[in-house]
Amino acid sequence: LTGCQGCKLCKSRSTIVFGVGNPRAKLMVVGEGPGEEEDKQGIPFVGRAGQLLTKMLAARGVNFDRERDCYTANVVKCRPEKNRNPEPDEVAACNPFLMAQIETLDPLVILTLGNFASQTLLATKEGITKLRGRAYPYRSGVIVPTFHPAFLLRNPGESYKRMAWDDLKLARQEYDRLSGR
Ligand code: URA
Repeated sequence: LTGCQGCKLCKSRSTIVFGVGNPRAKLMVVGEGPGEEEDKQGIPFVGRAGQLLTKMLAARGVNFDRERDCYTANVVKCRPEKNRNPEPDEVAACNPFLMAQIETLDPLVILTLGNFASQTLLATKEGITKLRGRAYPYRSGVIVPTFHPAFLLRNPGESYKRMAWDDLKLARQEYDRLSGR
């Protein structure tokens, strides 16, 4: 076994999935943890949810190019078996890596995907349906919570899609406002 052994996820993972994207980006996307495909490739959001994420960022009125504008990471860097939720000791063990990524990137906007990432970074137990729809001051920027693309894939239909699009447009507005554009 090589690499981090900071928590029990090191026993089941194939690859550490640290982060991907432009290290100078000012938009950071934070998901929950690597899925099966991510665990194989070592890259966050490369599976079906990742493809939807790329499309959501590129949507009309949002216009983020994922590769150019964005850095993507997860709350935990190693895949929990069968995609179960990460446990508190795993989140705690991985937290210094996420915090180092945030400090290094110093993003204007952090888009948190789903309950898990939103609750972790906003330090709340409130659900995503209540949290989404607004921007929360965080460090020198904001956190914009929205639905996880995997949730959108499981719950097709215009209403969730519309809310996600509204959140992404809010992320764009905040990004433009904070970058003085
Ligand atoms: N879901 C996540 O939360 N993160 C990934 O990297 C892939 C799927």
